[in-house]
Amino acid sequence: MSEERRLIAPRDEVASMEAYFSPQLDVSVRLNTNEAPEPPPAGFVAELLGEINEVALNRYPDRVAVELRRAIGALHGVDVSQVYAANGSNEVIQSLLLAYGGPGRTAVVFEPTYALHSHIPRITGTKVFAGERDKEYLVSADEVDRVLGEVARTDPAAPAVVFLCSPNNPTGRVESLDIVQHVLELAPGLVIVDEAYGQFALRSAIELTSAHRNLVVVRTFSKTWSLAALRLGYAIADPEVVDALFSVSLPYHLDALKQAAGRIALGYVDDMHDRVRRLVDERERLLDSLGSRLVEVVPSQANFILFRVPGQSAHDVWDTLVAHSVIVRDLSTYADLEGFLRVTVGTPAENDAFLAALDAVLAGS
Ligand SMILES: Cc1ncc(COP(=O)(O)O)c(C=O)c1O
Repeated sequence: MSEERRLIAPRDEVASMEAYFSPQLDVSVRLNTNEAPEPPPAGFVAELLGEINEVALNRYPDRVAVELRRAIGALHGVDVSQVYAANGSNEVIQSLLLAYGGPGRTAVVFEPTYALHSHIPRITGTKVFAGERDKEYLVSADEVDRVLGEVARTDPAAPAVVFLCSPNNPTGRVESLDIVQHVLELAPGLVIVDEAYGQFALRSAIELTSAHRNLVVVRTFSKTWSLAALRLGYAIADPEVVDALFSVSLPYHLDALKQAAGRIALGYVDDMHDRVRRLVDERERLLDSLGSRLVEVVPSQANFILFRVPGQSAHDVWDTLVAHSVIVRDLSTYADLEGFLRVTVGTPAENDAFLAALDAVLAGS
């Protein structure tokens, strides 16, 4: 019998890495991944079904997804040349790091923030430098100065990329445009503002794109558009950046049905805003309900709330909620988030189920 062959190891950065995923449990109330609790409008689904008959499935799709990108550009009042789309905003971020990160380059994040902002740079061989948020979980000008100064000490052209996330996942806080502008003026490379939850907030960095060529704003169809299963996200950026992103994209990376679905979804802006309004109302109700139960909360402008139950470990709280068929996200291992969990705002019935399960936690049952 031949000797068992040893497999080649993956690159060092990858070998030491764990795959990123949230647990997918078979529970009745899933409030752990910040999805929209409602499906997209029936009219959208009907239009999409009609579109299937129109798509030439034997042909490759439009390589540069021009109609979809034009529709996204119209939504934000920017030219098609400023829009790049890919399979989820995570893939948009991956393309950004493939083009602008890599060995010898550095990305800056401010923790605690979205884990993929570190994970994707590491996958692409990009060094990660982590700054800290202040006690309110906001990025301060002093910290920006400190971090950018420190990174530039070894390489004046570094960092290649600075990530901001607004509203920030998992804290729900929104950065002021002043701080975004401060970073834009100081950073030598790209500033990526991840606005996956942008429609829940009162301000967006998109208005700064015309004045700042180094700004990239990333958005997704996964949250406010109720289309997480579709896997579609996009960036608004300088046309030169968009060209670079196409250079690192696989040919025909966006399939024809997805391009059509994204374009059709943009015909339902009013439904999207109504859905966001309903979620904001529910978020405020949840914030009040958690406060009245003396649960510690972080004020949120997103569709999720970071909370901590005094005197109980996050692990025990999570277990008890799951025992009541409710899943939330345990974030207690994140930097500066000891004891914290994150609940996504669901339908009124799902939120009631969460509060009832939380009452069981508080009663110790
Ligand atoms: C801040 C942030 N950015 C990006 C994403 C990824 O979104 P997508 O589904 O578009 O890849 C998420 C998903 O949770 C997120 O929280």
